[in-house]
Amino acid sequence: MIMKDIVCFMPVLWASVSCARILGIFHIPSFSHQLVYQAIWKQLSLRGHQVMAVTTHPLQDPELTNLTEIDMGEVISTAINQTSIPEIMSKEVPLLSLVHNLFQVQYKIAEAVLSDKRFIDVYNATDAGFDLILAEACTLPTLYAVAAKFKVPFIGISSYGVWAGVHYAMGNPHPTSLYSEMWSTFRYPMAFSERLRNTFYYIWTRYYLNFEALPKCDQIARKYLGNDLPYIQDIEKNMSLLLLTTNPILYEPRPNVPTVISMEQMHIKPVKPLPKDLKQFLDSAKEGAVYFSLGSNVKSINIPEKLRKLLIEAFAELPYKVLWKFEDDNLPGKPKNVFIGKWIPQQDVLAHPNVKVFVTQCGLQSIEEAISRGVPMVGMPFIADQTRNIRRLSEEGAAIGLDHTTVTKEEFKNAIIEVISNPKYKENVKRLADIWVDHPLPSLNRTIWWIEYVIRHKGTKHLRSPTADVSWFEYLLVDVILVLLLAISLVIFVLYKTVKFILTRICGGAKIKQN
Ligand SMILES: *[C@@H]1O[C@H](CO)[C@@H](O)[C@H](O)[C@H]1NC(C)=O
Ligand SMILES: *[C@@H]1O[C@H](CO)[C@@H](O)[C@H](O)[C@H]1NC(C)=O
Ligand SMILES: *[C@@H]1O[C@H](CO)[C@@H](O)[C@H](O)[C@H]1NC(C)=O
Ligand SMILES: *[C@@H]1O[C@H](CO)[C@@H](O)[C@H](O)[C@H]1NC(C)=O
Repeated sequence: MIMKDIVCFMPVLWASVSCARILGIFHIPSFSHQLVYQAIWKQLSLRGHQVMAVTTHPLQDPELTNLTEIDMGEVISTAINQTSIPEIMSKEVPLLSLVHNLFQVQYKIAEAVLSDKRFIDVYNATDAGFDLILAEACTLPTLYAVAAKFKVPFIGISSYGVWAGVHYAMGNPHPTSLYSEMWSTFRYPMAFSERLRNTFYYIWTRYYLNFEALPKCDQIARKYLGNDLPYIQDIEKNMSLLLLTTNPILYEPRPNVPTVISMEQMHIKPVKPLPKDLKQFLDSAKEGAVYFSLGSNVKSINIPEKLRKLLIEAFAELPYKVLWKFEDDNLPGKPKNVFIGKWIPQQDVLAHPNVKVFVTQCGLQSIEEAISRGVPMVGMPFIADQTRNIRRLSEEGAAIGLDHTTVTKEEFKNAIIEVISNPKYKENVKRLADIWVDHPLPSLNRTIWWIEYVIRHKGTKHLRSPTADVSWFEYLLVDVILVLLLAISLVIFVLYKTVKFILTRICGGAKIKQN
């Protein structure tokens, strides 16, 4: 740990922190997730920390000399292709089986990461000397066990919100009357039946987590990291900080414990010039251009044949140019006004003044890009949080939402024309953009400050909320309520007996008199 002796250069504003050795484990093979983490590990390395990142999307930037990347892209894709996740990504799946399927994938990914020779060399080294672990907080805690093995603090990071299980581990209040699972479509205010289902779902997840998922995670962690680990749930509850990519527009404000920190638009970069062919195409779109992409998880090459036909016909009839992110070299029946590209610099395309609407699957990173570039949206949600995202944006008048399973060609065309021709959509996007990033410090600076805070204080024990340790019946005051009910019952019983006694005395007396 020679690095600890060198003091990094800091702006005067920030307390200084010795250069630390940081291990990041970012295992979800999704480009949009990784974009957020890339920004963090790059910045940490630029600040002089020695960073090692286990990732599926390495930056491979030779200028980042303090950064080592272990590319797990292939290892993890191979593991995932053995599961059913590729099929469920583009389909409607009931919530309980979605969660179950996501967990199966997570077990496979954790095993793939832990059994990778390059990573074994890292976690099995006796002198690894890390000061901090950053780990993707995506559903299951298996990989946090690396931090427990090294006995160092760790920070959970998510490229969007987290599911109820992580809130639970952090002791973050999660009343089912107000907040639903991020994969569910329920939002406050919820009708009675929604609250009922939401509560049922929450109880189910707690059960499923405690009796099925956590024992399985624990087993995997022990298999690779040794048997002298704490139980995986205790490891997860030891999380020093949870960094979430949330914002007050798409996520209802909630009473967070002090160790839950929100960040936003981490991956947004300054606008760069477009490649020549794209620039020419968009420059020529004087009548306006539609940008269409279903993101990196839902590929438009995988969408149902019927929907693809509908999109092609609708685009052909629009009076605009259309740029379509399509993951193949040719699109059969491609209309004249459509330009396809396998890879498109989305942030820069959205910054082009001729791009008037973004037709999107409504993943959070895509929305952040559209909002930051001031482009209103037409949303066709597919999975995860996308449905609730578009619902919120529609309520704010910044987008129109369509259901891809029932949409007709006319509806699709009309939505695009409405968003382009009615100025209200663009105005609302601008209004949201102003709220989204209005903070005392930019998001990346805040995030780095918090990460270095954890390094400086070797964890955040002093910020730990008691809600993380209290049992559910104490938290919900079940014992107190029971005693109160008992006391009230007793009082009612005594009152009843007394009144009955008095009444029988009076009435009894009256009867005697009558006789
Ligand atoms: C690497 O870290 C050292 C200090 O540990 C720092 O002086 C240097 O600027 C860093 N280099 C880069 C490219 O980030
Ligand atoms: C880890 O290291 C120990 C000795 O330090 C060795 O016995 C063990 O086989 C190693 N585990 C793996 C998976 O390489
Ligand atoms: C909790 O984290 C600290 C470091 O911050 C570590 O020393 C301790 O072993 C961890 N405990 C558990 C149960 O993981
Ligand atoms: C945020 O961080 C960047 C990069 O370290 C730095 O150049 C900038 O001055 C910081 N901004 C503020 C407001 O501290």
